[in-house]
Amino acid sequence: MSLSNGRAYLAIPGPSVIPDAVLRAMHRASPNIYEGELHDLTQSLIPDLKTVARTDHNVAIYIGNGHAAWEAALANVLSRGDTVLVLATGRFCIGWGEMAAGLGADVQTIDYGAQAPIDLALVEQALVADTAGRIKAVLAVHVDTSTSVKNDVPGLRALLDKTGHPALLMVDCIASLGCDQFEMDAWGVDVMVAACQKGLMTPAGISFVWYGPKADAARGNCVTTYWDWRPRSAPEMYFQYFDGTAPTHHLYGLRAALNIILAEGLDHVFWRHETLARAIWAAFDQWSKTGAMRLNILDPAHRSHAVTSVEIGSPDGDRLRHWCEHQAGLTLGIGLGRSPSDAYFRLGHMGHVNAQMIMGLLGTIEAGLTALGIAHGRGALDAAADVIAAA
Ligand SMILES: Cc1ncc(COP(=O)(O)O)c(C=O)c1O
Repeated sequence: MSLSNGRAYLAIPGPSVIPDAVLRAMHRASPNIYEGELHDLTQSLIPDLKTVARTDHNVAIYIGNGHAAWEAALANVLSRGDTVLVLATGRFCIGWGEMAAGLGADVQTIDYGAQAPIDLALVEQALVADTAGRIKAVLAVHVDTSTSVKNDVPGLRALLDKTGHPALLMVDCIASLGCDQFEMDAWGVDVMVAACQKGLMTPAGISFVWYGPKADAARGNCVTTYWDWRPRSAPEMYFQYFDGTAPTHHLYGLRAALNIILAEGLDHVFWRHETLARAIWAAFDQWSKTGAMRLNILDPAHRSHAVTSVEIGSPDGDRLRHWCEHQAGLTLGIGLGRSPSDAYFRLGHMGHVNAQMIMGLLGTIEAGLTALGIAHGRGALDAAADVIAAA
């Protein structure tokens, strides 16, 4: 017997829950792509995409997932043979570095493992050792979705300034934009990439590269017409936004999603994510008092507010995920990039989530732990409720 019928809840770290207003906005006949509403709507997205990134610089829209934005960002600044410094705190920065290698870059990686944030001291050593100034770009992931670590982006900027190193600071905010505070201009980020299916609450399919003047001037010889960010961010004709047919329905969906974010207010969106994350951490603090279950990132200052990676022991990660899915209609994220993967699971709490959803998520996990006989401390739901009540 299963209690899973009813509205399912996809609590994975992307794609995230899609608001009904976004779904409704996309449920329409194909619009005129030559003139009219779609053109106006696309133009209206540009200032709002800059607002969510807190930048006055440029933004280019690509039809593709986050991997497309990764490639676009790299292709616009690199020449074959350039050196990039990859600061790996999980699977995703490693993947971005592999893409840079595929474009012909010489990739230097500092790997901090799967449970720690970027250690700025090691970055400083690498920058100081690069007396010839060969490192063209430093690649970092703000929030690595595989480990749920959050990195200190302003700290990286301060380090580049302190060492006087001219490298570009390139940051992946695919899992943090619209969830965790990010300030592109105030934090001195040269290039930022994100996609639409997490904090931006739109079905996967479009992605974005924001770039400042220093990054534009650094232009290498890797870029091809399709990836070139210049016509996309300053188009003379409408189709140049996309170098082809516009992703019509995604644009409508994104418009609705940005309306939701801006109506709530970006600072409130950050606060909501932080408060709900603190409720989740409070629950895990109780659960971890007995048994093997642990939050992956120990230091709360370095935890994402949008995704939480949990170690539980093999094979309980998979057992719990299957129980939640099949008995309760709740989908949890897999232990991505970890070995053995069935010793981990992840929670997505990004975008269109509120307090009752998080209490339901935690209550379902509690029921699953009990049903499966997985040892855990008591009082988790009380602790989470206390955080929400106090807020
Ligand atoms: C931090 C981060 N970077 C990059 C990606 C890749 O994005 P996509 O799966 O849309 O290609 C993801 C996807 O989850 C991610 O979380």
